Amino acid sequence: MIEELVKGNRSYRRFHQEVAVSLETLKGLVNLARLSASAANLQPLKYLLSCDAEKNAAIFSCLAWAGYLKDWPGPAEGERPAAYIVILGDTEISKNFGCDHGIAAQTILLGARALDLGGCMLGSIQRDRLRELLRIPEKLDILLVIALGRPKETVVLEEVGERGSIKYWRDAQGVHHVPKRRLEDIILI
Ligand SMILES: Cc1cc2nc3c(=O)[nH]c(=O)nc-3n(C[C@H](O)[C@H](O)[C@H](O)COP(=O)(O)O)c2cc1C
Repeated sequence: MIEELVKGNRSYRRFHQEVAVSLETLKGLVNLARLSASAANLQPLKYLLSCDAEKNAAIFSCLAWAGYLKDWPGPAEGERPAAYIVILGDTEISKNFGCDHGIAAQTILLGARALDLGGCMLGSIQRDRLRELLRIPEKLDILLVIALGRPKETVVLEEVGERGSIKYWRDAQGVHHVPKRRLEDIILI
C-alpha cells in the first residue's frame, strides 16, 4: 500500500482547476505535517493556506514550473492548482530549518494523494515578490510552496537510461516521464 502511494505521489503540474480544495482539507493536510518529525522537536514551521482565486493567482505569479521543459511556460489557465500551502520558517524559533520542510512537504503530498489529490513542491519562488503580495512578515522565511489540486496529467516513472539523463520529459501525448536511478546504483553495501 505504501509503495502504491509513493509511486502515485508524483509531481503533478496540471490540474482540474475547477475542482476546489477546501480550507478544511488544507488544514487536515497541515495537521499531518504538524504530527511529523522535527529536528529537536522545535517545530519552527508555519503554513500559509490559499484556496481562493485571487490569492492563488498571486502565488502562481511567483512560481517557476518544470525547468527542464523549456518550451512549456507552466500550467495554462484552467489547469492551474486549486490551492496552495506555503511553508514558512519562523526565525524566532530557529535560524536553521534543516530538512523539516522537506518532511512536512512530503507528508502533505502523501496525504493529498490519499485523498485523490496531487501536487508539486516548488522551491523556485520569487520570494521577495511573494512576501510583498501576501504580506508575509520578515521573521518568516519562505521555504517551499506546495501546489495542490486534482491532477489532470499522467506521470510515469522509468529507469534512467544508458545516457544517464535524469531530465524529465513529455511525449507527444502529453505524458510526463520521470527517470529514476536504479536501486543498485544508489545503494552501497
Ligand atoms: C525541494 C524541491 C523543490 C522543487 N522545486 C520545483 C520547482 O520550483 N518547480 C517545479 O516545477 N518542480 C519542482 N520540484 C519538483 C521536482 O522537479 C520533481 O520532484 C522531480 O522532477 C521528480 O519528479 P517526481 O516528484 O514525480 O518524482 C521540486 C522538488 C523538490 C523536492
